[in-house]
Amino acid sequence: MRAVLVEGEGKNNTLVLGETKAPKIGPGEVLVKVRATSVNQADLLQRRGLYPPPPGVTDILGLDIAGEVVDTPGETSQWEIGERVFGFVTGGGYGEFVTVHEALIWPMPSSFDFESAAAVGEVFATAYLNLFVLGMLKKNEKVLVHGGSGGVGTAAIQLAKRAGAEVFTTVGSRAGEKICIELGADYVVNYIKEDFEKKVLELTSGEGLDVVLDFVGAPYLNKHLGILREHGRLVLIGLKGGTRTEVFLPPLLTKRLTIIGSTLRSLSRQRKQELVKEFRKEVLPLLEDGEIFPVIDSIFPISQVEEAHERFRQGKHVGKIVLTWHAV
Ligand SMILES: NC(=O)c1ccc[n+]([C@@H]2O[C@H](COP(=O)([O-])OP(=O)(O)OC[C@H]3O[C@@H](n4cnc5c(N)ncnc54)[C@H](OP(=O)(O)O)[C@@H]3O)[C@@H](O)[C@H]2O)c1
Repeated sequence: MRAVLVEGEGKNNTLVLGETKAPKIGPGEVLVKVRATSVNQADLLQRRGLYPPPPGVTDILGLDIAGEVVDTPGETSQWEIGERVFGFVTGGGYGEFVTVHEALIWPMPSSFDFESAAAVGEVFATAYLNLFVLGMLKKNEKVLVHGGSGGVGTAAIQLAKRAGAEVFTTVGSRAGEKICIELGADYVVNYIKEDFEKKVLELTSGEGLDVVLDFVGAPYLNKHLGILREHGRLVLIGLKGGTRTEVFLPPLLTKRLTIIGSTLRSLSRQRKQELVKEFRKEVLPLLEDGEIFPVIDSIFPISQVEEAHERFRQGKHVGKIVLTWHAV
């Protein structure tokens, strides 16, 4: 099969469309012909050797898939050949074919094309897991979503608003601000021009927030402890800004705060199955009805994966960058 392959190592690697062995299904798995996938931060890190796939997982990049089922475990399978499916995978989304456990994919909404579906799995599942399952965000609570114009951010704003939360978000550009307001964010703070800690406290009359969804890490940690109110939850899904810092601990005790860390990719299959099932019940109908939707920045043919990664790296995108096999 054709697949995006990493040539070279470290900073000097390049991505090329080459030939590799197609995967074969194992017990309980389906084989999906991938029609579209997307760019995630994990792909940029993995290609540089900084985020290796979990043990036993293909080293082909790609965490999102949308495509058609071409092989199933047999008559007992819940999927039929030709069925359009989508979801997040642990790796392999940049190949023409990928295997995935049959309990870890969703049927594609009929109104969706493959490119839209490929923009959903990783970021919406991440937002859902971290806001509601781990962050336990509830109606009328206040949440801060960092990077509101990014893939996870655009998903998280929509999901949090649908759940009846008040949404604060950070952006670094005018274009980012515009999309966050369109998606329903209540307050948008430009983190480059303003100190978000000060601004959030000002906007909440000093009360603070219930949940923070963060991927910046070290440089924001003390600020987050400062803006969370009693029983607040900080959910850490990335460490883009750094991994070490000195922490001022008293707020953790006095406000009874919780810090939760999580990665979707290395979650156990059992936990992923539960998440996929819950997401299918709670989120899929909203996508089907168009009440929430993936925000798509751009669509590149998979042959231009290098250009797509460069756009993501520059951080000028708003929403998801999609890769399509259409006409390649
Ligand atoms: N743990 C997990 O399971 C998991 C799963 C998926 C993703 N992630 C992580 O979540 C993060 C977001 O992913 P994504 O796909 O949404 O990436 P993305 O599309 O690149 O969005 C992130 C956005 O954050 C903004 N940003 C950058 N630095 C910032 C800062 N210091 N403060 C506030 N905002 C900042 C950038 O926009 P502007 O600066 O232009 O506003 C950027 O567009 C990544 O770090 C990714 O690795 C974790």
